[in-house]
Order: sequence, then C-alpha cells, then structure tokens
Amino acid sequence: MLLILFFLPFALLGAPTNPKALNKILVEENPETPEKRKKIRKIIDTAFENRIPRVQGRQGVAPPLKLAVLNYGPKNNQTRKFEELNSEINGILTFNPPLQLIKTSEYTFESDIMLNENQANNLAKSIENGNYRAKRQAIVDTTLFWNTSVPIYYQFDSKLSATNIANVRKAIKFWNDNSCLNFKEDSNAKNRLFMSSAGGCWSYVGKQVDMPYQMVSVGPSCDTLGTATHELMHAIGFWHQQSRSDRDDYVYVDFSNIIPSQAYNFQKMPLDQAQLLNLPYDYGSVMQYYPYAFALDSSKYTILAKQNGFQNSMGQREAPAFSDLIGVNKLYNCSSTQSIVSFQSISIEATSTWQTFNAKAGDPNSYTSSSDNSTNCFWHIKAPVGQKVEFKMTTAPMSAICMQECPWQSIEINLGRFDLYGMITCCDTFLNQVFTSEQNTIALRGIIRYNQLNYSIQYRSVPTQGTATSPVCVSR
Ligand SMILES: *[C@@H]1O[C@H](CO)[C@@H](O)[C@H](O)[C@H]1NC(C)=O
Ligand SMILES: *[C@@H]1O[C@H](CO)[C@@H](O)[C@H](O)[C@H]1NC(C)=O
Ligand SMILES: *[C@@H]1O[C@H](CO)[C@@H](O)[C@H](O)[C@H]1NC(C)=O
Ligand SMILES: *[C@@H]1O[C@H](CO)[C@@H](O)[C@H](O)[C@H]1NC(C)=O
Ligand SMILES: *[C@@H]1O[C@H](CO)[C@@H](O)[C@H](O)[C@H]1NC(C)=O
Ligand SMILES: [Zn+2]
Repeated sequence: MLLILFFLPFALLGAPTNPKALNKILVEENPETPEKRKKIRKIIDTAFENRIPRVQGRQGVAPPLKLAVLNYGPKNNQTRKFEELNSEINGILTFNPPLQLIKTSEYTFESDIMLNENQANNLAKSIENGNYRAKRQAIVDTTLFWNTSVPIYYQFDSKLSATNIANVRKAIKFWNDNSCLNFKEDSNAKNRLFMSSAGGCWSYVGKQVDMPYQMVSVGPSCDTLGTATHELMHAIGFWHQQSRSDRDDYVYVDFSNIIPSQAYNFQKMPLDQAQLLNLPYDYGSVMQYYPYAFALDSSKYTILAKQNGFQNSMGQREAPAFSDLIGVNKLYNCSSTQSIVSFQSISIEATSTWQTFNAKAGDPNSYTSSSDNSTNCFWHIKAPVGQKVEFKMTTAPMSAICMQECPWQSIEINLGRFDLYGMITCCDTFLNQVFTSEQNTIALRGIIRYNQLNYSIQYRSVPTQGTATSPVCVSR
C-alpha cells in the first residue's frame, strides 16, 4: 500500500525519462531550477512581509451590508472546480534530493502565474514602495511581446492526452481566428510554447526570451476552452482582470475572508509593467478571478461585484469575453479584429404592454460534458428607437443546476453594454426583478449543455425618461 502511494504521483505525472531532467524542473534545457523558483518566491514573500502592517490593516473589514443584498450569485452551495486555482494541486516535481512533490501554488503568483525574476523584482519594488495606485492588465515591457510578423510556435508534450490536445487546439484556433496572432505547431522552433501538464493550469506572462521553450501547463484539470484560452492569454501577455487599478470601483475585495498568507494575491500592481489598453472593466473577462478565490470560508465570496447582477459573471470560463478579444488585438496592434463571430438571433419587438415569451432552447434529453461546446441561442428584445425595454424573468427552468458560473445551463442578459459580458444566471435569483435597457435593446443568450433552458420572460417598451444619455461606443 505504501509503495502504491509513493509511486502514485509518478503514475499521474509521468516519470522523468531523461536523467538530465533531474536537475531541472518544468522543462529540460530551460534556465528553470527549483533554486530559481524558490528565489523568485522569496522576492515576492519578502516584499509582502515588509508590507504586512498595511495588509493586516485591511483584514477584518467585512463588505458593506448592501453589497450582500445586491449580489445575485447562486442560491445553493454548489461550487464547481476552478481550474486555475492551483492551491491544492501537487504538481511540480523537484529532483533535488530528497525527492519532493510540491504544491504548484508554492511556485506561482496569483495561483497560476509563473513570474520571471525580472517581473518579480519589479513587483517587489512597487509593493515595497506601497504603489497600490498602479494599473495592470497587459504587459508593457517590449521584450515580453511576441513578434506578430512570425508565428508563435508551440509543441505538445507527448504525455498530454488526445482530449487535452483537442482542447488546447480549440483554444489556439480561437486566438488564431480572433486576433492577428498566428500560433503554429513546430517542435523545434526557438521560444516555442511547450503545452504540457505540470501540476494544474499555469503559464508565464508574455514571451520569455531566455527560454528555449516555455511551459504552458494545460493538463487534464484544465480541459475547458475557457481555461485553455485563459492560460494562453497569460502567455500572450495578460495579467488578471481584478489586478486593474480601477478594480475597487467595480469589485469589493473582502480581506476579512481571505487567507492572510494569500492576501498578496489581491494587490494592485504597477503601471510601468502594465497597461489598461483603454478598455473598461469586464466582470465576465476570462481573466477575472473566481469570486471565492483564496477564501477562509469557502461558502463566502472574497470578491463581490459592486454592480448589481454581475456576481455570477465573475470566473466564467465559457470562452473569452468580447473585451478580451479586443484587448489582445489592441496589445498587438492588429489592424482589425480578424473575425467577429456573428450570430443569428431571434428579434422580438416590445410594445407598451407587457408581453410574455419563453426563452426556450436545448433538448430536454440532452447532456454534454462541461468541456464540450455549448449550444448558444440569442434573442434581442427591441423597443422603438428612443424608448427603452423593461424586462423581468417570471419563472426559472426546473432543470437548472444552480451554481457559480453556471457551466451547465444559463442565460446571459446584456442591458446594452455589448462590448462587455452581461449578467448571468442559472437560478431564480433574478425572478420578478425589473431591469431596464440602456438603449432600446436587450440581448439575451442562452448557453446550454444540459437539458432544456426555459425561462419565462416578460417585456415591454417604456418612454425614455429625462435626457437621453449618449450611446456608449468603444472603438474596435
Ligand atoms: C449554504 O451554506 C450555508 C452556510 O453553510 C447555509 O447556511 C445554507 O443553508 C446553505 N444553503 C443551501 C441552499 O444549502
Ligand atoms: C519580427 O520578425 C521580423 C521577421 O522575421 C523581423 O524582420 C523583425 O525584426 C522582428 N521584429 C522584432 C521587434 O524583433
Ligand atoms: C503597438 O504600437 C505601439 C504604438 O506605436 C507600440 O508602442 C507598441 O510597441 C506596439 N506593439 C507591438 C506588440 O508591436
Ligand atoms: C466545437 O467547436 C469547435 C470550434 O468551433 C469545432 O471545430 C468543433 O467541431 C465543435 N465540436 C463539436 C462536437 O461540435
Ligand atoms: C416552460 O416553462 C413554462 C412556464 O413555467 C411552462 O408552462 C412550460 O411547460 C415549460 N416548457 C417545457 C417544455 O418545460
Ligand atoms: Zn490566470
């Protein structure tokens, strides 16, 4: 029995085949060693230790009561596995005697980011300077940029399963189709991405010039499109959404419910290492953290959406949000977004009296896995130009599985910011609440992998009150 337990990690991860690998971690021939990883860990830890009084000062402040009321998250306690939250994943083998199998999170920053030494030093400096007003979303340092004139080469580790490979290919296709980046398979090219499985889901941020090949860990626990595209977005050069300088305007970070030693994962980072690309905060960005991340009490949120209705959009891993595509295309100066997927939608005209329709989609007898493609259906409810739509849901589907991010069946409601992800629900959390469109259209999207979506919806048009706000337009 003992023997089985001892060898289990190897059975899961694959034993090293080359003795040269014994001195290296992650990737052979890479300048990565356990010592280097420990050094980087220490740079960050020391910086935060020096700032502990500040961090502690933020402990114990519970969110304002009204946020708890505003937050329409799932009503039961079902959670789903959050792939990039590597805190429990034992993954990276170090081969320094004695043999160690260590937690991936001991080497990563914000759970799934492998910082390089330069990035760690820069972050440490700004942490010690108390630079909390900084902005962060995408890389600034040009040595971290990929060159769009040449492909971004990648290789699959032979230990990845066919299912994993198919999922990563889907994610690569997504970025090839939706940006001017050109990922291309090549097992010999310099600076290639090495798609592998090394203890959970993680990546470096941007191109690592000193690495012959850089690891992107996208193994068995990461095989949804959302997670694979998230890790690739780190490799392309993006940080997490909630690290943005303006995040406090959009989310409340509840430090009273964050494991104290993990509080550094919620700091804001410096402007000289990042840019916001003039993009608005998007709760549904595929780079937004799961709202229970690093919780002391895992039945309570650590991140609360300040905007009514968006709690459940955070951590969605269905696919990158439209704003994520725009971000990648802006960072790389793509001349235009390569393909904007156009959907067929059902158009519904609102009149001044309440009308009802059933937003129904999917097959009551169907079931697919959470990593399979979902069925998507679109409805647009339109009021005459100059008026607005009032909208409420009156019944929720009996078959819904009520859980965070709604991976099985959900409805996305967009009141008019079509450049951003909408509110999502899979429960009765929105029932009988009246929402009003920003302009004259409300867009609904049904996302179904299980059973049939069936929400009863009531809508009507109402005159615009007061002075009309100017339409929000975000350049593409
Ligand atoms: C969810 O968990 C909380 C705290 O443990 C409990 O009070 C509540 O009743 C649970 N809700 C459901 C629907 O099980
Ligand atoms: C990008 O690649 C092209 C083609 O190989 C090369 O001419 C150019 O100098 C590269 N740009 C940078 C910034 O390295
Ligand atoms: C995009 O253009 C800006 C402004 O000209 C430039 O500073 C930046 O380096 C460019 N980005 C890339 C990835 O080439
Ligand atoms: C899922 O979507 C991908 C990319 O759009 C497509 O190539 C693939 O055929 C789809 N799979 C199924 C089972 O429909
Ligand atoms: C959809 O929901 C409505 C309202 O609850 C109900 O009358 C109808 O039978 C449902 N349809 C299906 C196919 O379940
Ligand atoms: Zn991440």
